[in-house]
Amino acid sequence: MTTSTICLLALLCIIYSTGVLPVEATHHVDRNLQSLTSDSSNQPYRTAYHFQPPKNWINDPNGPLAYKGLYHLFYQYNPKGAVWGNIVWAHSVSTDLVNWTPLDPAIFPSQPSDINGCWSGSTTILPGGKPAILYTGIDPMNQQVQNLAHPKNLSDPFLREWVKSPKNPLMAPTIANKINASSFRDPTTAWLGKDGHWRLLVGSKKNTRGMAILYRSKDFVNWVRAKHPLHSEKGTGMWECPDFFPVLRVGPLGIDTSVDGVQVRHVLKVSLDDKKHDYYVIGSYDAEKDNFVPDNNKGFEGDVGTVLRYDYGKYYASKTFFDDEKNRRVLLGWVNESSSVADDIKKGWSGIHTIPRAIWLHKSGKQLIQWPVVEIEKLRANPINWPTKVLKGGDLLQINGVTAAQADVEISFEVKEFGKAEVLESWKDPQILCSRKGSAVRSGLGPFGLLVFASKGLQEYTAVFFRIFRYHHKNLVLMCSDQSRSSLNKENDRTTYGTFVDVNIIYEKLSLRALIDHSVVESFGGEGKACITARVYPTLAINDKAQIYAFNNGTADVKIARLSAWSMKKAQIS
Ligand code: FRU
Repeated sequence: MTTSTICLLALLCIIYSTGVLPVEATHHVDRNLQSLTSDSSNQPYRTAYHFQPPKNWINDPNGPLAYKGLYHLFYQYNPKGAVWGNIVWAHSVSTDLVNWTPLDPAIFPSQPSDINGCWSGSTTILPGGKPAILYTGIDPMNQQVQNLAHPKNLSDPFLREWVKSPKNPLMAPTIANKINASSFRDPTTAWLGKDGHWRLLVGSKKNTRGMAILYRSKDFVNWVRAKHPLHSEKGTGMWECPDFFPVLRVGPLGIDTSVDGVQVRHVLKVSLDDKKHDYYVIGSYDAEKDNFVPDNNKGFEGDVGTVLRYDYGKYYASKTFFDDEKNRRVLLGWVNESSSVADDIKKGWSGIHTIPRAIWLHKSGKQLIQWPVVEIEKLRANPINWPTKVLKGGDLLQINGVTAAQADVEISFEVKEFGKAEVLESWKDPQILCSRKGSAVRSGLGPFGLLVFASKGLQEYTAVFFRIFRYHHKNLVLMCSDQSRSSLNKENDRTTYGTFVDVNIIYEKLSLRALIDHSVVESFGGEGKACITARVYPTLAINDKAQIYAFNNGTADVKIARLSAWSMKKAQIS
């Protein structure tokens, strides 16, 4: 070791142990808690078929890809504790996106360009089918820089070992480029233009203007920043984990990230750090000017109730990839806990991922549709099917015969008496409407839906339901996930979530699917037009004490056109 290396290492030790140069992390940082472990076996809140490692903290899914018959999932992971810190890229593989085998971490601090952390990034498949990872490293100055890594052995389908480029960092903030060194992260999958140049985006902000900085490269190693970002918006704050991909105008199939032409539209998703939600816009990408124009001219700051989110519950830092084996685009997202940090440390883990969702453009061209990948249905067991039945105002019918804490339920409603719909005089934020008009507040049409994680005496339940309003002579469907009575433990975040669903209920049935898994319920309304994910921690309604009900608390009857429910088997995950 040379004297200068020793000096550098000593300096790193001082900075690290004293925390003199704090990293501007967007997660709660507590140095004292970052390396505390605890026993995480036999707990009611661990999920049975959602992705989570045996213990410790996880956040964003990173660089998902399909390679030689295996799906790879990397994710932000703290190997030492149940709160954010010490971040590496943990790695699991799967043949079906349901059962996962853990491998050793793929990317961990080892070079000056990532010595203080290996943060989020993406995978790109280079010509010849070679994967490449681009990720954010935190350097000795706590600056955010972008790094490249390649698989050590391309014939290993597990892609266990990754070699970092000696040229790292490939993109860095400098005085000349005026990039904000603590707001420069999360490179996207790159796409190849017709001119033979690669392009990618890095999330950033300048003052409060959020932006997706564009870089171009001929060789994937030397990257040049474009004069203008691909897109930026004032007042939106830091854009984390941008994702930019094409979708076909027609049909549910996915396409490779580099496909362009008249048959596609483009989607830009950003995780807004200030709001902690994932927003997306559909728009036009001009490949010659490298410019993106959202259809909705207000972009991510559209009116409440019109700006689009992947999920209107707890959901963040998502990422898609193109699955070329099944010709679909798959979306993965992180679901944080709603419990206290003290509880997370006690249970020894924090964070799960959603069930991977196939994602495509709805035929209206106005929004995306999301639906759990079909492979999850392999876990379904003991089907229950109800004949059609009328759910009278005030009815509460138990759905017997499924393991209610670990289930998949599909229900659809037919509504006829529209005259009874409550009139909404002026536009309201759907989340506020849901929290003011929870499942206990009766109106004409609704609330009707499901009570999940319900205890026997209904001291605890989570209500996922619809309510129909008359607004400007049209029916307006509100979908809510009401956690206000989900747990007797008042320490948890029990925020009620809501969104409007664009369904024409005169002609269409109103469907709801709930994936229920011990401490999470992922709800899909209107056949995947609206998703709401909630974390809940019942104290009574746990394991075989949990129950599920169909309910109608409106005054008008509604018809259950379909009810199918399944117990879900446990997936092999950890
Ligand atoms: C999003 C995020 C990313 C960052 C990573 C750090 O949750 O803050 O912007 O790269 O997490 O773990």
